[in-house]
This record gives sequence, C-alpha cells and structure tokens, in this order.
Amino acid sequence: MSILKNIQRRKTFAIISHPDAGKTTLTEKLLLYSGAIQIAGAVKSNKIKKTAASDFLEIEKQRGISVATSVLSFDYKDAIINLLDTPGHKDFAEDTYRTLTAVDSVILVIDCVKGVEEQTEKLMQVCRMRNTPVIVFINKLDREGKNPVALLDELEQKLNINVRPLSWPLGIGSSFRGVYNIYKNSFAFFHSNKQQIEDEVKVFESIDDPGLYELFGDDTLTLKHDIDLVNGIYDDFQIGKYRSGQQAPVFFGSALNNFGVKELLDTFVEIAPSPVPRDTTDGLITPDNKNFSGFVFKIHANIDPKHRDRIAFLRVCSGKFERNKFFHHVRLNRNIKFSNPATFMGQSKSIVDEAYAGDVIGLYDSGTFKIGDTLTEGDSFMFKGIPSFSPEIFRELRNTDPFKSKQLEKGISQLTDEGLAQLFTQNYGNRKVIGVVGPLQFDVIKFRLLHEFGASCEFINYPSYKACWVKYENESDIESLSALWSNNLYFDKNKNLVYIAESKYSLDRAKEKNPKAQFLLSIEHNDLTLEMDNVA
Ligand code: G4P
Repeated sequence: MSILKNIQRRKTFAIISHPDAGKTTLTEKLLLYSGAIQIAGAVKSNKIKKTAASDFLEIEKQRGISVATSVLSFDYKDAIINLLDTPGHKDFAEDTYRTLTAVDSVILVIDCVKGVEEQTEKLMQVCRMRNTPVIVFINKLDREGKNPVALLDELEQKLNINVRPLSWPLGIGSSFRGVYNIYKNSFAFFHSNKQQIEDEVKVFESIDDPGLYELFGDDTLTLKHDIDLVNGIYDDFQIGKYRSGQQAPVFFGSALNNFGVKELLDTFVEIAPSPVPRDTTDGLITPDNKNFSGFVFKIHANIDPKHRDRIAFLRVCSGKFERNKFFHHVRLNRNIKFSNPATFMGQSKSIVDEAYAGDVIGLYDSGTFKIGDTLTEGDSFMFKGIPSFSPEIFRELRNTDPFKSKQLEKGISQLTDEGLAQLFTQNYGNRKVIGVVGPLQFDVIKFRLLHEFGASCEFINYPSYKACWVKYENESDIESLSALWSNNLYFDKNKNLVYIAESKYSLDRAKEKNPKAQFLLSIEHNDLTLEMDNVA
C-alpha cells in the first residue's frame, strides 16, 4: 500500500468530556465494536474519584507506564483509528490541552442530565484555538435529562459552536424509545441492555412513512414536529464546515447501553479528517511530505521505583518513521535513532518498525526530550502550536536539604520539561515559583523529587491571579512594568518574560501603564505568537 493510502486511512482523535459524562464508557464501547477488546470492563478509568494525592500516586504506581491509557490504536472497517487518552483528573488538564494539539479531531461527550459543564467549556476553548473538528455525543439518554433542544441551545451558547443534529431522540429517560437518523431515515430502537452490541435499526422512506405511525402512534407526530423544527433551525450538515471546525454534528445515545455508539463510530470513520497539515517555523508541513517529521506532545514518567522509565509520545506529522534509522533532534541539533519505539494496539504494547503520519509512537527517553521537541529527517524546522497556558495556582519552591540543591535543580528541570508544572525564576534562578493547574500536582512533584532525585522541598503559598507572558518590542514598552512591578517579573524556562499578577486589579493596572506591551495567557513552546482570545 502506498504511503499516501496508509496516511489517509488514519483517524487520530481524542474523546473529551467533563469527568463522569461517560468518556471511559464510550472509549470501551468503541473498542468493543471494533473488536479490539472482547469484554466490557477491560478499560480502566484513569480518574480518581476521591481527590486524595495518595490515591493518585497509588494509581500511577500501579499502572506504571500503562501506555494503554495513553493511546489506543485499532482498526475499524478500512480505517486505522488512533484514540489518544486524556487524563481524567482536572488537576492534570494541561496534559489534556497538549494532547489536543496531537489529534485531528475530537468527540465531545455531554451528559444529558448535566449539560455543558465547566471542564467542557475549557476543553472546547482549546479546540477552537486550532479549529479542531468536533462531533458531539449526548450521552445517558436513558436518564431523565434536559430537553434536547435546550441542550443544543446550551451547546451553541456556552461552547460558541454551530451544531447540527444528525439524529433525534424519541422520548428521554423512562420514555426513551430510540433515535431517528435524520439523514438516513432510519430508526434505532433503544433497549436497556449492557450486553447487546448491535442496535436494532429499521429504515423508512421518510419521516412521513406510515410505518413509523404504526410503531409509535401519536408519538410519531412529536418526532416529526421536532425534526421539522431541527431542519428549520439548523443549517444542513456540511462536511467542509465540520472539518474546518465551524459545525459540530450531534448524536444522541447511551454509551452504557451500547446505544448509538455504532452509529457514532460509523459516521466518525466516514467524516472525520485524515491527518491534516501542521504549522511549523518554516510554514505548513503536509502529511504526504515524503520526509518524516513529528513532535513530542506528552512525556509519561513511571513513578514506580522498580521501573524508572520515561516515554515520550511523538505524533508523526509527515512521511514515515522507521525503527533504527537516524532522525534529527532539532533542538539539540543531534541525530538519534530508536531501537525499540512502541506502538499500542488495544491493551498491549509492541515494538513498531514503521509508523505513518497520524500515528503516535512511544519513544523510551532518558531525558533527551522536552514537550514540543521536533524530530525530522534532517530539516531544522520546529512544530508550532504546542501551548503552555497560564497556571492557576502558584507556590514558591524552597529547598529543605541544602546538601541536595543540585538534585533539586535537576529534578525540577526534568519535571517541568515533562510538562508536569511550569517554572518561573527570578534573581538568576534563586527564587523559584512553580505554577500548576491543580493542587494535586504539588503533591506529585514533592513525591517524585524525593523518590527519583533524593531532593526534598517545601512549597510556600504565593497567592497570585495569573501568569502573563509579556510581549514587547523595545525595553521602553515595559519601562513602567520594570519599575513598578519588578518584584512580580519572572522568566520562564525559555527565558521569556513573565508577569505574575497578584490580582485582576493589578493586571489591569499593569496593562494600563504599559499600553505598548501585550500580556498573553498562553504561549507556544516554539514561538511567541499572539492569538486574539489569548490576550489577558
Ligand atoms: P468519565 O470517564 O467521563 O469520567 O465517565 P465514565 O465513563 O466513568 O462514566 C461515569 C458514570 O456514568 C459511570 O457510573 C458510568 O457507568 C455512567 N454512565 C456512562 N454512560 C452512561 C449511560 O449511557 N447511561 C447511564 N445511566 N450511565 C452511564 P459510575 O456509577 O460512576 O461508575 P461505575 O460503577 O458504573 O463504573
């Protein structure tokens, strides 16, 4: 098979949701349909129900580099599907944001009882930054949820996307009968059954087919009324609009009852994009470019002391990756070969000889990689678009063992390279502030510094509002910032200037006093690019 054909078969995506909406359940059902697993219960949730750090650390130790929870590859029909897993815990949301840079589309799961929740909004903001195509799966239709029209309104308003239902439910909760596929004129009957895999589907001439009335009596009138309404309100589905991130098709179902999942998967392989071009410091690189290239979007370290390995996850963006072939590590300007790159099929990991654009491979790493690193076949460009976002919680790092300061230095450097947290320094590195998304990360850092590097530290409260990367042309643009807020100015690991604002008020004041400078809430690893909704 030609390289191009191989690339076109690939569909690389992630499932995103607010915790508990049904991401794990849907993942498992997709694997069941594809035949990658045979029994339900094989996919373990990676979320921590209780938010205790000890639970998290225990789970991490047990699963080790449980790569199966990082990327799952499986075949379905003619497609090779790469499903990238994202952490279930909101404290590790930044990891999810970065994973979203490595996919070509997403499936968004919404709980029909709860509607759009906080984490959904954040994740969708990240998808919108890159115009990632989204398919929405409204889950748990077997429960008394919100009215479907109200749900769609909520999706449009809170997530700022245009939706287009492709199917429509008849009833909800205890009166749920199934869904009508608006484009295929077929009805899938709902049976509350966790074992049954195939949906019972009946095809009709149209929504006016008398056969529907025979089945559902007067309920058919409600269904027809709803579908007329939907067709009147929402624009027709257009694949081009979906692929450019402007229109999100919507399905209704119940992952737990295997309902609507096959329809979702069938449509997914039909419409989801194959690997798309990606932006680099040298312009767009298309997947069919014959030279290999890829970037590291995630580094997973094993916190089990018996297996102290790290895996760098690399998304192949163009050409073909080959085992034991030298590739160029652009940042280090070094050529490296990989003798045991891993790929993941279902639950098991195996050594891969070659991988194509769209694939994600795991490279064993002893500290050569940082998030955002690019590998090429000799070219010296770097991939853009791998962001760091302003952390939400800040603490000052203090060494509690003066004899181990080197170890602490090394540990913090490595953990922040992995993307576990962000490091901001001042006074030639003597003052260190660590920024994270959730407090659980501090416990993980402390644990890993002690167990992997023999360093001990404490975290001192450093209440702050936001970290903003400051972009300016001339020193004079930040004159007042340097004079009045020097205490709040830091450098990130790439020597970019960062202003850690104590409050919204002080940020507004700093902006007012330094009108020529720009204050950004996120920064790209390989480029300081301004994006409109990025400005604080
Ligand atoms: P997550 O990964 O998004 O966090 O969600 P997960 O799949 O773990 O699902 C969260 C809960 O919702 C689970 O129940 C799961 O069984 C349930 N669920 C998923 N899909 C459906 C559905 O279609 N209908 C109904 N009624 N429930 C659904 P749990 O009690 O928290 O866990 P478990 O004990 O069932 O594993």
